[in-house]
Amino acid sequence: MVRIGVIGCGGIMRNAHFGPTLGEHPDVELVACYDLNPDAAASFAADFGGEAVGSEAEVCARADAVYIAIPPDAHGPAEQACLESDTPFFVEKPQALDLGLAREIADEVARRGLMTMVGYQWRYTPSGQAFREALEGCTPALVNMWWHQGTPRIPFNRYKRKSGGQVVEQVTHIVDTVRYAVGEIVEVFGRQANVVHRSEADWENDDVGAALVRFAGGALGTITNCYALTEGAPGGSGAEVLAPDRRVLWQAKELTIRTADGEERVPPFAGPPHRFEDLAFIEAVKTGDSTGILSPYGDSINTLAVTLACAQSGESGRPVAI
Ligand SMILES: NC(=O)c1ccc[n+]([C@@H]2O[C@H](COP(=O)([O-])OP(=O)(O)OC[C@H]3O[C@@H](n4cnc5c(N)ncnc54)[C@H](O)[C@@H]3O)[C@@H](O)[C@H]2O)c1
Repeated sequence: MVRIGVIGCGGIMRNAHFGPTLGEHPDVELVACYDLNPDAAASFAADFGGEAVGSEAEVCARADAVYIAIPPDAHGPAEQACLESDTPFFVEKPQALDLGLAREIADEVARRGLMTMVGYQWRYTPSGQAFREALEGCTPALVNMWWHQGTPRIPFNRYKRKSGGQVVEQVTHIVDTVRYAVGEIVEVFGRQANVVHRSEADWENDDVGAALVRFAGGALGTITNCYALTEGAPGGSGAEVLAPDRRVLWQAKELTIRTADGEERVPPFAGPPHRFEDLAFIEAVKTGDSTGILSPYGDSINTLAVTLACAQSGESGRPVAI
């Protein structure tokens, strides 16, 4: 049995990790929950088991491994508690808003040889795996990434200082999966603007952005993001890679490969995408074998660096090398 602790008992832990997968996992026992809001921890424990406790350290003292799912600007103490107690941890993306802090944590994770996973779920899914396989042996030349939608619902996403902005908080999934399938991004040149939320109270964020990126292998690409659509207007998210003999379109559960010979569609998988990473994390903790972990803390920093560079470039008006 793997004893799990939770730090941050909000929507993602409830709806993506415990609700669909961990709550029914035969090898998982929820032992301790901590949340800045004690009511959230108490109701999580009432629904999924374990005890609501008063600190991150108490969670770590009781658990074999910890899930950290807190707002993007709240990182530091939760990871510190895991490091001090040598407790393996899963942390939701973005792993921090401060690259310096993330690097300090990564160095300590490496020094202690601690098992970690960052919540980049698409790497673990059949569509994410098929995306990578479809590009094996190819020379990606042009790579377009996007996430277009209306005003975000989670309150912290209305404030760039709390979420890091749409690219850091959300498009990070697309950037990370593209890093996995295509390769490293080495330079970013971005711009952001606030177009339709200008006169809204309770909004301090950009609502559109566009960035030009350059890959280590020589490909060029774009990242575009948009929070400016009205409710129900057609949006979407994904990435399209053009290589000399193919056009590969990845959109969450779906993958389409088009060549001169026609079109191949990988059928969408059933169930929630987070299930695959959860199963991989629990298996790794149970066996001590980390080969199934595709998004360890240290590697995921490169995704964070690319997404932070979009805003940094927008502020300076200059390209940013990663
Ligand atoms: N992988 C995904 O698909 C995905 C989807 C949604 C959200 N997320 C990420 O998950 C994280 C949490 O998002 P959410 O949707 O659950 O948000 P949420 O607001 O629903 O929940 C966050 C919880 O953390 C608690 N909290 C705040 N500061 C804390 C602290 N310092 N220590 C302990 N608890 C604290 C809050 O009280 C709240 O209960 C964010 O980083 C978000 O970007 C990932």
